[in-house]
Amino acid sequence: MITNIWKIIGVSFALTLVMSCSKPSENESSNSKTSAKVDSVLSLMTLEEKIGQLNQYSLGSEFTGPGNKKGQDSIRYQQLISGQVGSVLNLLGAENTRKMQELVVEKSRLGIPLLFAYDVIHGYQTMFPVPLAESSSWNLDLMQKTAQAAAAEAAASGLHWTFAPMIDVTVDARWGRVMEGAGEDPYLHSEIAKARINGFQGEDLAHNKTIAATAKHFAGYGYAESGKDYNSVNVNQYILHNHILPPFKAAAEAGVASFMNSFNDINAVPATANQYLLQDILREKWNYDGVVVSDWNSIGEIVNHAVSPDLKDAAKKAIIAGSEIDMEGSAYVQFLAQLVKDGEIEESLINAAVRNVLELKFKLGLFDDPFKYSDIEREKEIVGNNQHHDLAEEIAKESIVLLKNDNDLLPLKNIKNVAVIGPLAKDKDTPLGNWRAQAIENSAVSLYEGLENVLPKSIMLKYAEGVKLSVGPNNFFQEQVINKEDRSGFQEAKQLAKNSDLVLMALGETAYMSGEGRSRADITLPGLQKELLKEIHAINPNIVLVLMNGRPLDLSWEDENIPAIVEAWHLGQRAGTAIAETLVGDNNPSGKLTMSFPRHVGQLPIYYNHKITGRPSTAPGQVFYVHHTDVENSPLYPFGYGLSYSDFEYGDIELSNNSLSKDESITASITVKNTSSRDGQEVVQLYIQDLVAEETPMVKSLKGFKKVKIKAGESVKVEFSITKEMLSYYISNGDLSLEKGAFNVFIGKDASVKSHKKIELE
Ligand code: BGC
Repeated sequence: MITNIWKIIGVSFALTLVMSCSKPSENESSNSKTSAKVDSVLSLMTLEEKIGQLNQYSLGSEFTGPGNKKGQDSIRYQQLISGQVGSVLNLLGAENTRKMQELVVEKSRLGIPLLFAYDVIHGYQTMFPVPLAESSSWNLDLMQKTAQAAAAEAAASGLHWTFAPMIDVTVDARWGRVMEGAGEDPYLHSEIAKARINGFQGEDLAHNKTIAATAKHFAGYGYAESGKDYNSVNVNQYILHNHILPPFKAAAEAGVASFMNSFNDINAVPATANQYLLQDILREKWNYDGVVVSDWNSIGEIVNHAVSPDLKDAAKKAIIAGSEIDMEGSAYVQFLAQLVKDGEIEESLINAAVRNVLELKFKLGLFDDPFKYSDIEREKEIVGNNQHHDLAEEIAKESIVLLKNDNDLLPLKNIKNVAVIGPLAKDKDTPLGNWRAQAIENSAVSLYEGLENVLPKSIMLKYAEGVKLSVGPNNFFQEQVINKEDRSGFQEAKQLAKNSDLVLMALGETAYMSGEGRSRADITLPGLQKELLKEIHAINPNIVLVLMNGRPLDLSWEDENIPAIVEAWHLGQRAGTAIAETLVGDNNPSGKLTMSFPRHVGQLPIYYNHKITGRPSTAPGQVFYVHHTDVENSPLYPFGYGLSYSDFEYGDIELSNNSLSKDESITASITVKNTSSRDGQEVVQLYIQDLVAEETPMVKSLKGFKKVKIKAGESVKVEFSITKEMLSYYISNGDLSLEKGAFNVFIGKDASVKSHKKIELE
């Protein structure tokens, strides 16, 4: 495919280019070749065309033809065909992307191909569990595979770039976007970030099944004050470097193609205008050389943050800081050229940013063939195929967390009739979760359908909705109205419960009760669900509570009163099958929480790796120590927690040595025995505590984990190598510090593990 750029560059160079675009030999000088090509293209561009590469719009398919466009649409259309738009988000499908690419390649002077971007968060059409749920699987291979499958579907629909993974460490369940991340721990988050990035990007971005990934939101977005989305972030350097930044550093090291700014200000500077984050850390400390994209109009929001009087000044601050692509802000396209002409910014700043954008286009192979991803046949074959649905089921099974199982109520046995009650029992939409890209509405397997398929026919299933969860619209763009009055279904549900051996209650949050803009101050079961649960419990306490939600909930009453609780999140396409197989025991649950569940919303933010404080005592009857007088300090369910139908017994920690000098490592091992009669899987977790440090240390930090299969009655020896890196932390200037002294090594089933051994760093 020869685009205008080739005609302009000249035939002989074009030929060299075409030839060298075919897979570079090894990793040799491919980078310098790409950079020579980028320079050649750059040298042909006018200032306005360069700025165009930094301009990104959200456009629909109506832009793919000339049509009759009015107002802003007509301006955008003109910009599109005159090389003043470099990337487009939200335009989808092989046909639409081909048409729009054709428009730009054929009509604009240089014909530089567009990048097509989209939020492919947990699947494109096939929905996998929401990321918080997936993270509970602790299965990095599977998470890499789901990202790979999502990339394959997206790429087959003409897309080049996803705005995922979200790698914001999150410690406050009130924040709705916790569903998009991997929870509260920086180490686990980093491992998952790498897996997802590798899954999306594969080995070669030019492959037609891979897409560029984005590390977002840089940085601190998960620390929004009081969990309110978009709110200010005020964190000290310790938290920034030890909790917030590690996943981003891991992403940069894994070669993530882009970073996205966050909306928030952080320590009084908007992230989009933040030179400390974007220059000092990202470019200088980490040597990151990919693209930085703003969040949706986050350049415009610099004005709202009141550090710029107008959009022109915001554009200046953002480009100087290093925000390179302006997503939907129109700030760059309006003001950058003038700022250069007035001498307020150097053109070299723009060149550097454009270079990164062009480089990404080269890496994706778009200069070789701008239409390579827009293939209608491949789209039909790949999008939503059966293998992807099978994969969705596989990871859904591993993402389920068994929170409580008194008297081995689960797996189900000796029952003749089951009452299935609750607004989410027959819901085929909620399991698809929020941020669902091109998921087909109501296409998930509901819990009820799953039960019908999986339960033996001898068991009689009966259903009552019991209560409506919300009234009115249920979608991404509208605030949901929760039902607080209508109890008309209670009676039928209670009657059903009375006449059944067992009650399965399916309660929780609909898909749009978590996600962007969905912060909640009360994180108990929303609406009248708890009231219904209590009334049913009074009639028949033999209840298995199946929860579908996108965030940790306050389940204190439920934990005290309900014998079995299954955390089934928003599990995606085959949610119902995965849950039903778990309830009957065909799947043995192995998920573990990646965010602490509080006893009360007042405990938030709550996270296991907090500081020890000057008053840590918990002796009974004391008054003057760190605590609430009305709720105990521990979470209801700690980070790393999850039960299994198997029982695992941990032996003693064995150490290959008690001390380690700076260039050695210690092997810590433990034997885990499955004492039950069921094969199972256990996530064995390694935590380290620094006993004395220059800066107040955390009580413990996760430093390793292994998910192991252990057959009934058998034992497995699990080994971890403790290296000096695991004993270091970031001091306030952002440098790593390795300090001599004593450390405790814990190995156990969750973050509440007590048994440990001491080691010494000499
Ligand atoms: C979100 C981003 C997302 C962008 C584009 C914003 O509102 O914060 O995470 O990538 O929209 O859809």
